[in-house]
Amino acid sequence: MTERLPPGARGPTGAGGTTRSGRAFGLGALLVVAAPALTGCGPERTMLSPVSTDAGRAADLWWLMFWIGAVIWTLVTAATLYALYRRGRGQQDPLARRRWENTPLIWGGIVLPSIVLVLVTGVTVDAMRRTDHRAGPGTMVVQVIGHQWWWEVRYPERDVVTANEVRVPAGRPVRIELTTADVIHSFWVPALAGKVDLIPGRTNTLWINTDRPGVYEGQCAEFCGLQHARMRFRVVVAPEPTFRQWLAGQEQPATEPADELAVRGREVFLSASCVHCHSIRGTAEVGASGPDLTHLASRDTLAAGIMPNTKGHLGGWIVDPQQVKPGARMPGSDLSPDDLQALLAYLGSLE
Ligand code: CUA
Repeated sequence: MTERLPPGARGPTGAGGTTRSGRAFGLGALLVVAAPALTGCGPERTMLSPVSTDAGRAADLWWLMFWIGAVIWTLVTAATLYALYRRGRGQQDPLARRRWENTPLIWGGIVLPSIVLVLVTGVTVDAMRRTDHRAGPGTMVVQVIGHQWWWEVRYPERDVVTANEVRVPAGRPVRIELTTADVIHSFWVPALAGKVDLIPGRTNTLWINTDRPGVYEGQCAEFCGLQHARMRFRVVVAPEPTFRQWLAGQEQPATEPADELAVRGREVFLSASCVHCHSIRGTAEVGASGPDLTHLASRDTLAAGIMPNTKGHLGGWIVDPQQVKPGARMPGSDLSPDDLQALLAYLGSLE
């Protein structure tokens, strides 16, 4: 019978294979290799390809700290390897016999860290000051409200409410006002702007200002419960005319169902439990704890950016959301296949 060890534990003979310096070097190398993965995970959500001045400032800060860290890591590793080499050859620790044995500690442990911390703090505070803009005549306001685990998006100047997709015009400063309906979340769209928390009881702001149209992935960046990792969103930057056209469409009440199946689907929606949480403007229902579905079919993704908005995904989501996103507030449904098809036809018509 073999001995069972907890994960990560070493067997009785396992410790002799690597030296301490080898392990230190391996860990350091791993960190260097992993560094790009820690910056926003993958090409779509990297902060290292900024498309706005503000995001460029955050990227500059990242690189500054990366290079400071790289230099310090190299110096510390070199000193460690040197000390181990001396000790391995039976020589006395070169630092221990000197009269000034405390000098490296004073410089390496107090003076240098103080200089680095003051420098990094100063540069960071300056970047924060520069990204805190003032509203001007062309400024547009978008309100984003965090929920477990999705994003409500409101355009207060027009009667528009949507979810999980923030559409903004290119070339115009957009002030994002961030609040939360429950716990702390954090709004982070790495290529476009910094990261700002959504705190209960207050409104924080973040600015988006880019002239580069595109779709930029965002992510909740503050742990907020079971589905935190899948609380995603996207920011769609569109040329001004395209944006205006979209906004005008979103202002309209829901499209009237065009065929019999969709009419039946609307009845299913209004008689099932959907209406307790969701609203579709143009019907009598005003459920507000779940995303507004008035123009559901115009959105690219479902369930906070985790899957494409297709009939199949929507059907699976309605029948068993807990399978897709365990812990989500949406309960499953026991609609008959016919009712489900009708409901999907109706929801699919809500352009
Ligand atoms: Cu919301 Cu993490």
